Amino acid sequence: MYRTHNCGELRINQVGENVTLAGWVQRTREMGGMTFVDLRDRYGITQLAFSTDDNEQLNQSARKLGREFVIQIKGEVIERSSKNKNILTGEVEIKVVELTILNAAKTPPFTIEEETDGGDELRMKYRYLDIRRTTIQEKLRLRNKVALETRKYLDGENFMDVETPYLIKSTPEGARDFVVPSRMNQGEFYALPQSPQTFKQLLMVSGIDRYYQIVKCFRDEDLRADRQPEFTQIDCEMSFVEQEDVLNTFEGLVKHLFKACRNVDFEGDFPRMTFAEAMEKYGSDKPDIRFGMEFKNLNEVAKNKGFKIFDEAELVVGIVAEQCAVYSRKQLDGLTKWVQRPQIGAKGLVYVKYNEDGSFKSSVDKFYSQEDLKTWAEMTGAKPGDLILVLSGEAEKARKQMNELRLHMGDELGLRNPNEFKPLWVLDFPLLEWDEETERYHAMHHPFTSPKQEDLELLDSDPGKVRANAYDLAMNGVELGGGSIRIHDRELQALMFKHLGFSDEEAQKQFGFLMNAFEFGAPPHGGIAFGLDRLVATMGGSDSIRDYIAFPKNNAGRDIMIDAPATIDEEQLNELALRLKED
Ligand code: AMO
Repeated sequence: MYRTHNCGELRINQVGENVTLAGWVQRTREMGGMTFVDLRDRYGITQLAFSTDDNEQLNQSARKLGREFVIQIKGEVIERSSKNKNILTGEVEIKVVELTILNAAKTPPFTIEEETDGGDELRMKYRYLDIRRTTIQEKLRLRNKVALETRKYLDGENFMDVETPYLIKSTPEGARDFVVPSRMNQGEFYALPQSPQTFKQLLMVSGIDRYYQIVKCFRDEDLRADRQPEFTQIDCEMSFVEQEDVLNTFEGLVKHLFKACRNVDFEGDFPRMTFAEAMEKYGSDKPDIRFGMEFKNLNEVAKNKGFKIFDEAELVVGIVAEQCAVYSRKQLDGLTKWVQRPQIGAKGLVYVKYNEDGSFKSSVDKFYSQEDLKTWAEMTGAKPGDLILVLSGEAEKARKQMNELRLHMGDELGLRNPNEFKPLWVLDFPLLEWDEETERYHAMHHPFTSPKQEDLELLDSDPGKVRANAYDLAMNGVELGGGSIRIHDRELQALMFKHLGFSDEEAQKQFGFLMNAFEFGAPPHGGIAFGLDRLVATMGGSDSIRDYIAFPKNNAGRDIMIDAPATIDEEQLNELALRLKED
C-alpha cells in the first residue's frame, strides 16, 4: 500500500497513529539537528520531521531531498510544538521512521508555489508542473464542481445526456471551421462542430424532448482572453417550449450552480433588457451592470453651438464618472490617448469637470458657456465633483467606443468587483446583421433561429429590423450563454436560407438533412448553450478562461507543451491525397 492517508487529512485526534504517506517534496528546512519537509499532494501539505537524535542517517537522507522529489514515508503522528494555523494539518507532524525515494526530480523551471516566478509561456510549456500549484488545482476543482452540479440539476429536470459526433459537416455558427481530411473519402473533409446545433435539433425531432451535453466545440477564430479554439459548452435543447420556459429553466440552473459552487444567492428574478436598450444604454449586448455610468444622449444640448465635430456627429454621447472632477491634466490626456488607440479608434475625447464650487471646466470651453455646460450636467445627472466624458461620431461606432471607455473607467474606479455577480438576460436580438465585407445579411445568432411572428412581414421590406426569439445571458460584462427558439417548419427555414443568400440548391446541399427532418413531425423547440469555460472563470472572478482549462492553447492557437499544430510526414499526406502548396 503506497499510503494510508493523503497529505491533507491528518488532525490532532490522530496523534499516536502510525501512517504511511506519499507525495511531492514542497521544501525542506534545516533547524539545528532537525529537518522539516513539507510533503504535498492534491489534498494538502503535511509536515514531516526528522532528527539527528532519532536517526542520524535518515536525517542526512532527508537533507538531500530536492524540490519535487516523489517520496514515501512511514512514521508516527505527533503534536507539533509550533502550530501552523493556516493549514488544516497544521497541528500535527509526522515523526518519520522510514523514507523511500519513489522518484527523483530535476529542479523545476519555476517555483511550484501559489505565487510562482514562472512567466506565462514557461508555465504553459510545463503545464503539468503548473497544474501542481494549488491555485490552478482550485480552478480545476471549481470546474469539476460546476460540471457535476450541472449534471445533477439537468438530470433532475429530465434532461438526457446524448453524445453527438465530432466528425461532421460545417455548421454555421459564424466562425471558420477546423477541417479534417478523410483518408477513406479522398478529397473530402469533415468539419469539427462549432456546436452540436443541428444534432440537438434532430434529437428533438427524434422525441428526446430534453437533451443536454457537456461538449467540446471548435471554432477557428481570432483568440482573446475569453476565447479558445476548442472550448466547452453546456449545450441544451427542449421540446414544446416557448422562450419563457427556456429562460426559467436555465435561470434555475445558473442559480443552482452559484449556490452549490460559490454559496451565492441571487435575490428574485434575473433582470431583463432588450438588445435595443442594452445598446442604447451601454453600447454592448453584454452590459456589465455591476455599476451605473449609463450612456446619456447629448445631441440636444451639444449640437448647433458651433462645435463642428459635434454638429457633424450622428451621436454625441456622455457618461458620468462620479467624483472624478479632480482628474489632473495628465490623467485626462491619458484617457484621451487610451480612447485613441487603434483598438478603440476614437478621434478624441471631450471632458467636462463639474467643480465642487458649481463652475465648469471643459475641453470645449471655447464653444460652450457655463450655462450650456450646466444643461449637460442636467442631462447626464452629473453632480458637483463629477466628470462628464463625451464621445461623438457615427452612432454605432461612438457607442462601441463609449462601451470600452465605460468598462475602462469601471476598472479604474474599482467598480467591477470580481466577487459580485450581476446576471442579465438580453432579449429580442435582431435576426439578421448586415456584413460590410460580404455585403449581405448574416444570421446574428444562427440560421435556425426563429423570427418574431409579429416582425415577419418586415423580412422583405426591412430585414435588419426583424427581431428574433433569441436571448443571451450576460454576467459582469461576459456573454455566458446564448440560445433561441428555433424554426421547426421547412418552409420558414427555406425562406431564412434564401434571405441569407443561399440558393435552393445550396441550402438543400448543406442543410437538406435538417429541412427533410422537419417534414417528419418536428416539435416546436428551443434551447441554449453556456460557455462552461467562461461560466467557471466568471465564477472564479477572472476575465481569462485559460487558467480554467487544463491544457489551453496560447494566443496563436498553439499548444506549446506538445508543440501542436505540427507538420505531418509525406506518407500521411499521400494517404490523404494531399499536397502542400509551395509557399
Ligand atoms: P453561441 O455561439 O452563442 O451559441 O455559443 C454559446 C456560448 O459558448 C461560449 N463560446 C465560447 N467560449 C470560449 N471560446 C470561444 N471561442 C467561444 N465561442 C462561444 C459563449 C457563448 O455564449 N448553438 C448555439 C447555442 C444555441 O443556440 O442553443 C451556440 O453555439 O459563452
